[in-house]
Amino acid sequence: MKFLTAFVFSVVAGSCCFAQNPDWWKSTTVYQIYPRSFYDTDGDGLGDLNGIIQKLDYIKSLGFETIWISPFFLSPQRDFGYDISDYRSIAPEYGDMGTCLKLIDEVHSRNMKIVFDLVMNHTSNEHAWFKESSSNRENEKADWYVWKDGKGKHGQKPPNNWKATIGGSGWNWHKGRNQFYWASFLPFQPDLNYSNSKVKNTMLDVVRHWLSKGVDGFRLDIFNSIFEDTSFHNNPGSLRIIPSEETPDGFFQKMKFNVNQEGSFEFATELRAVVDSFQNPPRFMVGEVFGDVETTKKFCSYHGKDGLHTIFLFKTLSTPFKAKKWRKMVEEFEHNFAEPFVPTYVFSNHDRRRSITPLGNDVRKAKLLAFFQFTVRGIPFTYYGEELGIEKPTLPLKTGLDPLAQRYKSIPQFMVNWTGQSLNRDECRTPMLWDTTQNAGFTSGEPWLPVAENFKEKNVQTQDRDSTSLLNFYKRIIEFRNENLVLQEGTLTIDEEISNGKVFAFYRELNGGKFLVLMNFSSKTVRLNEIPSEVMFSTHPSTAADFMSPFEGRVLKIAQNN
Ligand code: GLC
Repeated sequence: MKFLTAFVFSVVAGSCCFAQNPDWWKSTTVYQIYPRSFYDTDGDGLGDLNGIIQKLDYIKSLGFETIWISPFFLSPQRDFGYDISDYRSIAPEYGDMGTCLKLIDEVHSRNMKIVFDLVMNHTSNEHAWFKESSSNRENEKADWYVWKDGKGKHGQKPPNNWKATIGGSGWNWHKGRNQFYWASFLPFQPDLNYSNSKVKNTMLDVVRHWLSKGVDGFRLDIFNSIFEDTSFHNNPGSLRIIPSEETPDGFFQKMKFNVNQEGSFEFATELRAVVDSFQNPPRFMVGEVFGDVETTKKFCSYHGKDGLHTIFLFKTLSTPFKAKKWRKMVEEFEHNFAEPFVPTYVFSNHDRRRSITPLGNDVRKAKLLAFFQFTVRGIPFTYYGEELGIEKPTLPLKTGLDPLAQRYKSIPQFMVNWTGQSLNRDECRTPMLWDTTQNAGFTSGEPWLPVAENFKEKNVQTQDRDSTSLLNFYKRIIEFRNENLVLQEGTLTIDEEISNGKVFAFYRELNGGKFLVLMNFSSKTVRLNEIPSEVMFSTHPSTAADFMSPFEGRVLKIAQNN
């Protein structure tokens, strides 16, 4: 079917070769790889690009079309790649340019797509640009970063009250320049100054560079922090203590002047123009942004211009696994991201606890979650290892390698446990579990983070042999989605009558084809009123037509495609 769409598009476009459907990304499925933890081929205890190449067939066998890889560019690795010191070089621990280009080729030869992770907001403080910029106030790159004089008698008080997105003042004193520089995240990640057109153009060239190498798109790191308001007014107060998925406000402050600025929305449209200048194949961008859905949608469309193709909607991470809450979330996403927009569904990543954690490590619920992710209208993002149900270990803040763990290390462990989150992000970055051999087959050396204790049951090899495993369920549900255009492209309407406190029900429709998707969120069997239709798919192998098992997900065919 996808082939047919591509063919029709090429005929319409009048091209001689197979021009690709520019909307391919709307129906894609994405697998996120944290390269340091995926597969190590040189025994240094760190995953590498060669390891990704070797495991591409595995990802393909799961059914995913697109891979997104967390950054592997040159970096001092203080934030494990999210602190870049050269956007055009590969970190030696991950490989070299030859391997990177080979990876792009190998992905494409499997009819898959590859998305890089671009950290445009900041560089490492070890980037040559920052070294030059901080050397004095007159150099060529003097205003490549956000520098400001301090306040107070000796100018050693921060220029205003702005907080970093992770708390504490985002202003950092630099002795050499006798000034403060702004960092939205950690002090060793100084923000680039996008009000300077030279910075903007240089970064757009970085984008062009990778697009011309064939990269299919980008995941854009903390994209809502790109611009700051140049008035540098103090932010107003707020009662919010901790920022959430739905608002960046927190630490008793409204992030009015440093987050989600008009300049950033505008920049998204400029970026889109650059990305769109590369067609054949058409490319894709997804932004990491925080805020309410209505505000952040401006990153996708601003003053009538297209911006990012889509953004992460992180409300999925905090929505309790309950039928009514789920329904409300889908209603909101459908309302704000109605066609031609497409919502995203993400349940964990390299910053957030494993998705099975809030489900009490219950595999039945993990299957239902995956069932939802691949039957709802939207782009599913799956973090490596979710298909195995890797669990969140408890790794103490004190010994955390993650720079956030180091920053928060004075928080007592019982409080961390109480939040249920991973303040020590090492917990969501533990090695991929390949087999039952030492270190779960991840490395022949010493793994950089501990391997899950229960790897003997949770690994790929073991689950592959068990037809009832979570891994095999992922394969089944993704295959089902890939075979049914209704699930990839159809509209979504909630069934008001069937949906209740236990069951969430919605229809997917396309060209006369109509599916009913039913999810039983409860631990009890529920009775269904007569629905005379064919069961196309179920999380449970054999179930009675008028009953749904606990945590069952089922797809019924209501009408046939024309
Ligand atoms: C994003 C990344 C995170 C990183 C931070 C700073 O939130 O997902 O891993 O530490 O930005 O780049």
